[in-house]
Amino acid sequence: MVEFNLPANSKVGVGKTVNVANGAKRAKSFKIYRWNPDDGQNPRVDTYVVDLDKFGPMILDAIIYIKNQVDSTLTFRRSCREGICGSCAMNIDGTNTLACLKAIDEVPGDVKIYPLPHMPVVKDLVPDLKHIYAQLASIKPWLQSQSPAPSRERLQSPEDRAKLDGLYECILCFCCSTSCPSYWWNGDRYLGPSILLQAYRWIVDSRDEMTGERLDNLEDPFRLYRCHTIMNCTKACPKGLNPAKAIAEIKKLMVVRR
Ligand code: FES
Repeated sequence: MVEFNLPANSKVGVGKTVNVANGAKRAKSFKIYRWNPDDGQNPRVDTYVVDLDKFGPMILDAIIYIKNQVDSTLTFRRSCREGICGSCAMNIDGTNTLACLKAIDEVPGDVKIYPLPHMPVVKDLVPDLKHIYAQLASIKPWLQSQSPAPSRERLQSPEDRAKLDGLYECILCFCCSTSCPSYWWNGDRYLGPSILLQAYRWIVDSRDEMTGERLDNLEDPFRLYRCHTIMNCTKACPKGLNPAKAIAEIKKLMVVRR
């Protein structure tokens, strides 16, 4: 059996406990991954015991409270607070999701919060997204057409427009890609579910004229075919989308055009 050992400097230690609940009736512990690239220390998990009556009902409310009132060094991304920007994606209670859409009540016991798995960490809960954004750019996620631009918008039939449903809603939070074992092991070359869903969104767009080139770009043992239909992506998507189906549709198009 293969045995894996983590490098010594990656072992996660037990950090500090800060209790600011002051005997509150609704006290809850948040165990949060911390890592600072500047202090030379190993990552650790800090525990914050807080009073749930002091802030709103979502996990993001708790993290914002901790940063504002308890520990200003805690670092995370967030913006819209309503599941639209994708920036608050993290691993909560073992599942990749959006902190602003996850209710504290959904987590029994202590709330464990980690950055999205298998990504380099910039600091605390902030993953480094440089590589995955470069992968997004590689599929040219914009409309490409050689036909002269019409004087007004490029029209679609209602049926063609409907083909984009379930695709255009993707907010690029990367909960799916970072829950995919294939992407964990081959993320350097495999595009992963989020980028392939984006690729399919443009392949299936009736106004785009580069379908052949887009498929050529994906015809590769790694970029597309490292998807082994594990389906973690579809299970993880906090917007209820189905990246596995989009990937399957791309694979079907590859067969049809042969
Ligand atoms: S803060 Fe925008 S999706 Fe959560």
